[in-house]
Amino acid sequence: MTLQAQQSSLPPTIEWRDGTLYLLDQTRLPRECVVEAVDTVEAVWRAIHELRVRGAPAIGVAAAYGLCVAMRREPSDSRDTFLARLAAHAAYLDSARPTAVNLRWALERMLSHVRAEPSATGTALYEALVAEAKRIHDEDIELCARIGEAGRALIATGSGVLTHCNAGALATAGIGTATAPLYCAHRDGVAFRVYADETRPLLQGARLTAYELQQAGLDVTLITDSMAPTLMAQGLIDLVIVGTDRVAANGDVANKIGTLGVAIAAKHFGIPFYVACPSSTLDLRTASGAEIVIEERGAAEVTHLAGQRIAPEGIQVRNPAFDVTPHALVTGIVTERGIVRAPFEASLAALFATGAAA
Ligand code: MRU
Repeated sequence: MTLQAQQSSLPPTIEWRDGTLYLLDQTRLPRECVVEAVDTVEAVWRAIHELRVRGAPAIGVAAAYGLCVAMRREPSDSRDTFLARLAAHAAYLDSARPTAVNLRWALERMLSHVRAEPSATGTALYEALVAEAKRIHDEDIELCARIGEAGRALIATGSGVLTHCNAGALATAGIGTATAPLYCAHRDGVAFRVYADETRPLLQGARLTAYELQQAGLDVTLITDSMAPTLMAQGLIDLVIVGTDRVAANGDVANKIGTLGVAIAAKHFGIPFYVACPSSTLDLRTASGAEIVIEERGAAEVTHLAGQRIAPEGIQVRNPAFDVTPHALVTGIVTERGIVRAPFEASLAALFATGAAA
C-alpha cells in the first residue's frame, strides 16, 4: 500500500482545483471533516490566522496559493501594477502568523519567481504565479517523502516514540515531517507504538495527530502533556520526534509550546530528541532562537475548552504559542538531505548553504 493510500480517508489538507483554493478546516477535526473553498485573500489570511490551515509547511503552501487567489481577478493589470499589488498582498499574508518561517519563505519565493518572469501582461504573470504555487505544493509532498526515508531507520521494532503537537500529513501537503519516518516504518512492517501529547491549549495532538495516525492504522496512544516525563521514567519512550516552525542557524528550534519541556525531560532520561523539517523551515538568516518572534495568542484559548469557560472571569493569562528548544537538547535534525547533527551551525551551513529558506 502506498503512503498516500494509507491516508486516503482524509481529504488533502490543501487543494488547488480549477482555479479555486480548497482547505480542510482543521479546527473542526476530528468531529467533522469539512473542506471549504477560500476565495478572497482576506479569507486565506483568516484561515491561516485562525489555524484552519496550520503547521509550518502547510501555511507556506496555503500562502503561495493565497497570492493566486489575491491576483486572480486582476489579469488586465500592467506589469508594474500587478507586481505592486502582489507585493502588498504578500506583506498582508505574511502578517497572518509570525513564527513559522515557511510563510515568509513561500511568499518571497513567489515574489522572486514572478519578478523574474519577463512577460508584460497580468494574465501571463498570473499563470507564472499559479505554476510556482503548484511547484511549492508538489515539492512539499516530495520533501516529506524524503524526510520519511531519511528518518526511517530511527524507528526500531518494539520502540515507543513520543511526538508533540501535529507535524503530520495535516501540517503539510505530504506525509508530514515528524510523522514521515513513522509512516515509512509502518509501511515497512515495523511494529512500534506512538505516544501523542494532547498539546494544550489547542489540542493539535489529540484532535489531529491521534486522529491521522489512527486513520492510517498506526498503534497510537494519546496522553496529556504532563504525562510525558512519567512515561519516560517508566521506560516506555525510546525516541522523541517533533516538527518545527523555524530552525535558527545555530540549531535552536522553535516549535509548539511544550516542546521545550519534552526536550528537557528527554535529556534527563537520556532519550534521543529529534526534530524533522524540510529546508523551507531553516532560517539561516536568524542566528539563534533568541531572535525568533514567538506568537502570543488570545486569552480565550487558555480560559476556555471546547467553548466552555474553565477559568475565572478576569484572570490574567499568558499564551505563547511556541517555545524555543536550545540546540544543546537536540540530538539531530531530520531533513530531506539526511540527518544533521551537532555542531549544527557548521553542519546546517554545509548541507544547506544553497537552496535553504535563507
Ligand atoms: O500552531 P500550529 O498548529 O500551526 O503549530 C504547529 C507546530 O508547532 C508544528 O509542530 C510545526 O509547525 C511543524 S509542522 C510539520
